[in-house]
Amino acid sequence: MTKIETIFENNKKWIAEKLDMDSKYFENLAAGQHPEFLYIGCSDSRVTAEDIMGLQPGEVFIHRNIANLVNNVDLNVMSVINYAIRHLEVKHVVVCGHYNCGGVKAAMQPVDMGILNPWLRNIRDVYRIHKLELNAIENETKRYNRLVELNVQEQCINLIKTAAVQEAHKQRGLIVHGWVFDISTGKLIDLNINFPKILESIVEIYRLY
Ligand code: CO
Repeated sequence: MTKIETIFENNKKWIAEKLDMDSKYFENLAAGQHPEFLYIGCSDSRVTAEDIMGLQPGEVFIHRNIANLVNNVDLNVMSVINYAIRHLEVKHVVVCGHYNCGGVKAAMQPVDMGILNPWLRNIRDVYRIHKLELNAIENETKRYNRLVELNVQEQCINLIKTAAVQEAHKQRGLIVHGWVFDISTGKLIDLNINFPKILESIVEIYRLY
């Protein structure tokens, strides 16, 4: 068990390490942020954004929630998206899901999860949209993994429905990416979401810009 005191000890060591490498490290960090990436991932403790991407503080703007959802009426994620795109002017937006996702697993069970019901309903909706493909997969683990991937794809589509993404894509070539992190191997997998094609196919309905 980690003691709270240990965390503050770790912090002192971390400060010393950073200053040892660069005496102006914190001075520079405090001067401002210019991240090129917005990362939207799962809250899962095993999937840490900067670590898996090999990026440092200041390089990625992060939003995490259960099952990496981009929900239209979630003021939190929508505020993050707008701030990152319109003010920080990030160049890439990433939705990163992961295999063994507890949120996705829970959404596959016929269980009343209380306050989590409306949140997980978003994943059940993804299942409904892709029911034919998913139900054709007999192996339960494979079906679960595929739902993780399709959930990422649908969240990318939700991003593409926003005015901020549509505007930034047209004005400065912002790109949306869909990734999955495989906890069992440590691998980051690019789902190769065809961003321009999706935009073209849904823009007649979702055009805001
Ligand atoms: Co998860």
